[in-house]
Amino acid sequence: MFVNWPERFFCNSFVRRFIQRGQAQMWRGMRKMAPGGDALEIGCGNGAGAQLILEYFKPRKLTALDPDPAMLRLARKRLAGPVADGVAEVIEGDAQNLPCESASLDAVFNFGIVHHLEDWRRGIAEVARVLKPGGAFYIEEIFQGLYANAFLRHVVAHPEHDRFQAPQFKAALADKGLVLLPGHHESHMTMLGVAVKREDP
Ligand SMILES: C[S@@+](CC[C@H](N)C(=O)[O-])C[C@H]1O[C@@H](n2cnc3c(N)ncnc32)[C@H](O)[C@@H]1O
Repeated sequence: MFVNWPERFFCNSFVRRFIQRGQAQMWRGMRKMAPGGDALEIGCGNGAGAQLILEYFKPRKLTALDPDPAMLRLARKRLAGPVADGVAEVIEGDAQNLPCESASLDAVFNFGIVHHLEDWRRGIAEVARVLKPGGAFYIEEIFQGLYANAFLRHVVAHPEHDRFQAPQFKAALADKGLVLLPGHHESHMTMLGVAVKREDP
């Protein structure tokens, strides 16, 4: 589901960028990417997260994907340099049906978008499908305790069917062979961590 105007305003603010920088630093502290790896960011929004991924993880190639034409316009503008250099591409797409080969990526990055998916379990399954064994899923996710609290549920718009908190989210990761590394942070509002795809099927 696309973001509504208040959430768009927040996502495009310097406050969001500041938060994302801290998260990228924490992710890198938890698990570095092997040099020369290929990466995907699902729900790239305005491309600010993709810039941080390029800065902190230095992938060979980063694909930044979003279905929202307005967000894609901002991302293409922001990432014009890396796209021209062949280090990044910005594509229209759906995280529930990724246009990527199975077991083709070293890392998938999620800056707070899985709760925007109508079928979030399918989104997790798609991440697991496209990662190579040993590949990493970098996770920032928010839960209903934050986006559907007494105030915010009147401000932002999200799918309402089959929602999840940390226990359901972690169970879905485990079900798809994504093993959460020690040291992740979680509360009833948010989760930040890295999950690695099991080497054995
Ligand atoms: C809360 S915003 C986060 C944007 C950016 N990642 C950030 O952290 O600022 C959620 C993003 O998910 C995108 N989105 C919504 N539905 C999606 C889908 N089915 N597949 C991929 N991205 C989706 C929205 O267009 C939006 O850019």
